[in-house]
Amino acid sequence: MPALLIRDLAQIVSPAAASPLRGLALGELRIVEDAYVLCEEGDIRAVGRMAELGTADLPPDVVELDGKGRAAVPGLIDCHTHACFAGDRVAEFELRSRGASYEELHAAGGGILATVRATRAAGEDRLSAAVERHCGWMLAHGTTRFEAKSGYGLDRDTECAQLRAIARAGGAPTWLGAHAVPPEFPDADAYLDFALAEVLPEAARLAVAADAFVERGAFDAAQARRYLLACREAGLVLRLHADQFTEAGGVPLAIEVGTRSVDHLEATGRDGARALAASDVAAVLLPVAALYLSRPMPPARELVDAGAIVALATDFNPGSSFCESLPVVMSLACTQLGLSPAEALGACTVNAAHVLGCAHWAGRLEPGYAADLVLLDASDWRYLAYHLGGEHVALVVKEGEVAWER
Ligand code: NIG
Ligand code: FE
Repeated sequence: MPALLIRDLAQIVSPAAASPLRGLALGELRIVEDAYVLCEEGDIRAVGRMAELGTADLPPDVVELDGKGRAAVPGLIDCHTHACFAGDRVAEFELRSRGASYEELHAAGGGILATVRATRAAGEDRLSAAVERHCGWMLAHGTTRFEAKSGYGLDRDTECAQLRAIARAGGAPTWLGAHAVPPEFPDADAYLDFALAEVLPEAARLAVAADAFVERGAFDAAQARRYLLACREAGLVLRLHADQFTEAGGVPLAIEVGTRSVDHLEATGRDGARALAASDVAAVLLPVAALYLSRPMPPARELVDAGAIVALATDFNPGSSFCESLPVVMSLACTQLGLSPAEALGACTVNAAHVLGCAHWAGRLEPGYAADLVLLDASDWRYLAYHLGGEHVALVVKEGEVAWER
């Protein structure tokens, strides 16, 4: 692979410190103006001002890219998606627009279970094609690394097919074995007996992490504890969906068992936010899901100010957040969550990398990190959040190679 020199950039912007970033550190950036970045062997070799670029140091086969008028930020990292699914829920979207609630549709056998039916019927090749397609959408919005969950199979073959499809597309696979109770089981406990005995052994080989959905109509905290402890025993990192609609004990459970993150938190009150801030559990906030379902926004400002590790993600899925754009998430973080553009950038780069366990080599534009970058067709990087729904991602570099160009 030839070396890549991106020269004459208006700005190179990177979170100043290594992860996890808490409190004031979340909003601290290193900005180099009139800058270059040199990538070699998939990594960043040097970042600096054009005035300091010595031609003697350049490898002979270097490919040059003109960055004039453009700002560069680290490749965005989406640490919470459900990108592997078949079918759609566009009819439910219309029903919700007429007043039906997400929870009512779920209780009537629609919602997640509608996607389970479509995903079970798809077969592995179609699931692979779907996740590849969704991954292409994400890349066009600047996402260079992503996590994706299973949880739309809820039987052994489909869950494992989902996890393989995610890994083939380059995603970090999470086994969301406790997402909903499928109709062939009488209750959540009977389903978990099956999932832990029959699916976990194979899922633990295919996945990096395990996740569960604590909510009325899904799993209670005791059931999620049993699932998570078994998954940890099998070597998986733990995640948790909690407090999306109600405070159902998910946050205390996440802290008790030491999950890597607890995600959603739209219903989290002051005690939950303070407890999280005093813990090492990252709070992954999903403002598009709150907007899409007309839920209250999670207490982002309170979490950051109290010192919690805050990350942002899309929650991309066909029901509660059909949106793959981290720039849209950053816009909402600034307009709805009270975060600054710099905090929003830190939350979907360094802190998202921390959630995925890759913060020592991804999420910053510093020598030694992966050469994952987004070039904007704006000279001020804040356009990424400022232009709601705008299309400022001009070019995406992944591991030192151009992966997408508008
Ligand atoms: O994070 N809340 C549970 N799971 C997903 C939604 C999945 C779906 O609606 O298909 C979420 O919002
Ligand atoms: Fe989710």
